[in-house]
Amino acid sequence: MSDDFLSKSVMELYAHAARNGEQVCVPDGYDMEFLATYIPQSVLQIAMGCGVPVGLGTVRLGETILDVGSGGGIDCFEASRLTGKDGLVIGVDMTDEMLEIARNSAATVATNLGYPQSNVEFRKGRAEKLPVDDQTIDLIISNCVINLAQDKQRVFQEMYRALKIGGRFTISDVVADTSVPNYLLNDQERWGACLSGAMYTRDYLRTIRGTGFVGVHQIGVAPWGMIDGVHFSALTVTGYKVAVPPSKPSNEEQFSGYAVLKGPFKWVIDEYDQTFVRGLWRSIDQKTLDLLHLDPFRPWFLFSKDVVSGKMLNDDDPELLRIIPEDKPCVWQGHFATMTSLFERAEDDDHHQFESGVPIEICSKTNAVLATPQYASFFHILNRSQQSVSGEAVSCSPNGECC
Ligand SMILES: C[S@@+](CC[C@H](N)C(=O)[O-])C[C@H]1O[C@@H](n2cnc3c(N)ncnc32)[C@H](O)[C@@H]1O
Repeated sequence: MSDDFLSKSVMELYAHAARNGEQVCVPDGYDMEFLATYIPQSVLQIAMGCGVPVGLGTVRLGETILDVGSGGGIDCFEASRLTGKDGLVIGVDMTDEMLEIARNSAATVATNLGYPQSNVEFRKGRAEKLPVDDQTIDLIISNCVINLAQDKQRVFQEMYRALKIGGRFTISDVVADTSVPNYLLNDQERWGACLSGAMYTRDYLRTIRGTGFVGVHQIGVAPWGMIDGVHFSALTVTGYKVAVPPSKPSNEEQFSGYAVLKGPFKWVIDEYDQTFVRGLWRSIDQKTLDLLHLDPFRPWFLFSKDVVSGKMLNDDDPELLRIIPEDKPCVWQGHFATMTSLFERAEDDDHHQFESGVPIEICSKTNAVLATPQYASFFHILNRSQQSVSGEAVSCSPNGECC
């Protein structure tokens, strides 16, 4: 499908939905009863997100927030409440009918929130060419929109351009557990319904990181649908735009201290392609120090200015995190684990090597390990079996290795 044809058919679908007060998909996770206390019904009835990117403690007071593909404006109005009257919210959408409903509701929302005037502005535009100036946005949100765009890389590049250094995004979007086949990619109806435009999770995370974002990690995931064995999930991810370091700093400029991985993984490779082995101190440069000080990394690392590179933490150091699987038989039940957070590659204590966004099959024992609080935030666990599984338990290797 050509870009123009696709964009026109998506626009027509959402214009029709806006005119008729219909939902192409039903959002999950909102407290609609609460939102109805200040947001008009005309907006709520055309909410079509696949997550709650604006919730989850995402928005801070006084920020400038951009909502890519704002639709009827539900997330913009919730962002308006959360950022307070001194913040600014910009909603961008390509469909006139959506923009009209959103704009017509802005004054009512402001009155209901007790603001002297609305702090929400709706602009017509495309996600691929955002109508905002460079480096003016603190936080970008987007809810079930990027999968609809043909050129997703361009959308992420635009988001990167619009964000200030230190800015971040939190987006909910539909992804798939494999590459979507051509016959679905060309299915206009399913593309419009936020299904077949979904990218393989591996490629989605790669595209985001390839744009320059770091600290990319999952903050929520839910099943979205399944067609012909392709599983679609609604993924909410956050990532950061950090200062780009000079291309060739001297060794002295580079060195900034030492860091050690506490666990739970045995080793990880970070987004700058550096390996951290659990318990082994290594020197890091300023950009790595900045990266590892971001909130989602901090629980997994220790920092020091004056240890010796190569020094190991004692095996019984209470800071070390290890989740050893139980030494007992396990069962294959159809579970697959996809690592969706922070690292490019990692290995657990049972010889499983994970690559960002790639599902690997796991048995019941590993499923229990990855469900522990220490591991859970790194993974999306999906059961791909379509019928009940009646497999026998299989024995693992005697030294605790998985089957
Ligand atoms: C599934 S709806 C989600 C709307 C809103 N985010 C919500 O949660 O209710 C998708 C919206 O994205 C808009 N949209 C789709 N592709 C777009 C693009 N490339 N650029 C700008 N808006 C787009 C559509 O007009 C529609 O309003």
